[in-house]
Amino acid sequence: MLLQLKDIHTSFTNSRNETFDLLRGVSLDIEEGSITALMGGNGSGKTTLFNIISGFHKNYSGSVIFDGHNLKRLPPHAIASLGIGRLFQGGQLIPGLTLLENLQLGAPDTNDNRPLSSLLKPHQTREADLQKKNKAIESLIQLFGEGNKYLDKLYDDGSSFSYGAQRLLSLARLMIGDHKLLLLDEPTSGVNQQFFDTIKSIITQIASTGKTIFFIEHNTKFIRDIADSCAILSDGIITEHCPTDNIAWDVAKPLSYNTLIKQLFHEQS
Ligand SMILES: Nc1ncnc2c1ncn2[C@@H]1O[C@H](COP(=O)(O)OP(=O)(O)O)[C@@H](O)[C@H]1O
Ligand SMILES: [Mg+2]
Repeated sequence: MLLQLKDIHTSFTNSRNETFDLLRGVSLDIEEGSITALMGGNGSGKTTLFNIISGFHKNYSGSVIFDGHNLKRLPPHAIASLGIGRLFQGGQLIPGLTLLENLQLGAPDTNDNRPLSSLLKPHQTREADLQKKNKAIESLIQLFGEGNKYLDKLYDDGSSFSYGAQRLLSLARLMIGDHKLLLLDEPTSGVNQQFFDTIKSIITQIASTGKTIFFIEHNTKFIRDIADSCAILSDGIITEHCPTDNIAWDVAKPLSYNTLIKQLFHEQS
């Protein structure tokens, strides 16, 4: 198992000083090389669960075991360097940096990270930068084909791209990284059909390189098309986790979300 969540509990205190238990014993296994979708109503705690895995939310009980490491006391950067990459909800390119610089942020640092190392070793730094640039360009070609439009826009500011394009390019950035597991928080939210299909193909391509993908998603068609399995977070626990092939997707109609989930898992079409 690449990732094991064991009996995770966390609670929040609201402005009226009332405590509520958001996660009440989440347990889930994510197999290496799999694509797993996580569904659940608004406010059910999906993003919080991702924050726990990636080290941004520390106040929880239970354990997160990744690739043999217990992540409990590790800060986000240490967790990232173990091989967990993240696409944040609404995640986009960083404005003020060019497309190339944005992509290069995803490339692993082959140089050592000591503060003055780039001054002390300018040659190695130039070499590492060149490698990162090549990696960025290679990934654009791999994802979007030879002569694609992004290659002519390497020096355009990140903010000059449309919202949908920024989401695609943020995924491309994750592809460059040396990650074993990618956590994608609603990769398709707010993008139009054209980008929707491209995002699907990018995620499939990233998965085909052996990376494990765990993603939060509402769109059942998207999940059915790309995921191996689907888990439901409801009332603070994982109520279902099964192969997407076993789910009666045909009943999916625009019902209330909870009704939809019940029907998907419990009614045969
Ligand atoms: N830092 C926080 N402080 C207080 N409450 C929070 C915090 N983060 C999340 N919550 C609460 O937890 C609930 C679930 O949030 P979230 O994990 O973002 O849900 P989801 O991603 O499933 O929509 C929210 O409704 C919010 O009330
Ligand atoms: Mg969320």
